[in-house]
Amino acid sequence: MKKFLITLVMAVLPLTANAAGGSGHLDHMDVDLHNQASLQRGMKTFVNYCMGCHSAEYQRYERAAIDLGMNPEVVAEHLIFGEQKVGEQMTNSMSKEDAGKWFGNPPPDLTLEARLRGGDWLYTYLRSFYADDSRPWGVNNAVFKDVGMPNVLGSLQGVVKANCSWEDMNAHGLAGHGIDPLTNTPLSNCTSIVKGTGELSPQEFDKVVYDLVNFMVYMGEPSKLDSHRIGTYVLIFLFLFFFLAYALKKEFWKDIH
Ligand code: HEC
Repeated sequence: MKKFLITLVMAVLPLTANAAGGSGHLDHMDVDLHNQASLQRGMKTFVNYCMGCHSAEYQRYERAAIDLGMNPEVVAEHLIFGEQKVGEQMTNSMSKEDAGKWFGNPPPDLTLEARLRGGDWLYTYLRSFYADDSRPWGVNNAVFKDVGMPNVLGSLQGVVKANCSWEDMNAHGLAGHGIDPLTNTPLSNCTSIVKGTGELSPQEFDKVVYDLVNFMVYMGEPSKLDSHRIGTYVLIFLFLFFFLAYALKKEFWKDIH
């Protein structure tokens, strides 16, 4: 019994770890690993906007291509810049020392980032940059105070102006720009987007980030796609096997009773 309880606690602990992160308000997103089109768009955004600085060392292009239903040759042609082959890991050529000098903190490898921070955190973080002239890159972030990363999606989102303290924005969220469909009131009056500075509407921008985070969650646990599929077969097998075992038992015990 004691062993059982310990196992149970160990199994539940990782689930609570993310919730206790203390990162303030997080917007929720429903990860959908079965939406291949979303994962493909996410990979494209990741390669185009993130891999200049970040690597995904434990992910191979080819594995991602196959898992997401893309032809590896097409991926090699359109999503690999430079000399890399499709069978190689998704690394970049920035050295950690240079990166540390340029940014203060080097950009970490992002293969397992979604497991570390959780999808909601990433979804909120990437939409929570705002203009702050006191920072080296001219931006701060409502989830990650004094972050060393520039707002690389800024041209899509536009310039976000903030009118509240960091603590306020962190507690109530600033990413929820736009209108609450239920109450028809602005979701956050802490921030506004400077008109004409972003290529996308807030809804379109949210979708780009949604796809990107969806891909990052896949990357953190690529075998999850397989385990969903295999899990179904295992259950079907167990179901059928139950009847077989039962029939066999009846047969064996027939003469003994
Ligand atoms: C110009 C370089 C650059 C680009 C491009 C870039 N980042 Fe970053 N990123 C950084 C740096 C530097 C840090 C470290 C910030 C710090 O610790 O203060 C960072 C940190 C992060 C973190 C936080 C890591 C952690 O848990 O501490 C995440 C998540 C992240 N980046 C995601 C992304 C994504 C997704 C993209 C693509 C949309 C991207 N980054 C593009 C430079 C970059």
